[in-house]
Amino acid sequence: MKIESLNDLFEHTLQMTYYTENQITKALPQMIEAAQNPELKQAFSQHLQETEQQVQRLEQVFQAMGQKPEETTCPIIDASVKACEKLISHTETGAVRDAGLIHCGQGVEHLEMTHYGTLVAWAQSLRLEQIVPVLQQTLAEEKNADEVLSRCANEQVNEGAARMANAA
Ligand SMILES: [Fe+2]
Repeated sequence: MKIESLNDLFEHTLQMTYYTENQITKALPQMIEAAQNPELKQAFSQHLQETEQQVQRLEQVFQAMGQKPEETTCPIIDASVKACEKLISHTETGAVRDAGLIHCGQGVEHLEMTHYGTLVAWAQSLRLEQIVPVLQQTLAEEKNADEVLSRCANEQVNEGAARMANAA
């Protein structure tokens, strides 16, 4: 696809975001399985449910634009998923792995905040009025997921992980 206008760039980035969400849907079950802390498992599980709705929301956006949902690879989510798999393979179940899983999860949320924050801004500039609130809803969920993970790190995981390091 040749990108010649902001509209083309919007479509390209929408496809990239669709790919990103679909990859996250595949990766989150592994992260839920790998996590030990019950609140972290719950945070990932809740975000998996949200992500499934976000995929549907993107499909609505494609439809509103008169297009079929299509994916374009996002190399950043591919690298993030690989980094998470590497973390899991290098750690045992426990607080240190959980701390690393939160880092991976927050990296993904920040990527999504970039995708959706940019799509919202472009949709506003392109006067895609129907689409703006749909994208804003997902952006708010991604920000919330990031905050939930920060709280989980600060209140649940990091202190225990630090004690494990001290005991070694
Ligand atoms: Fe998402």
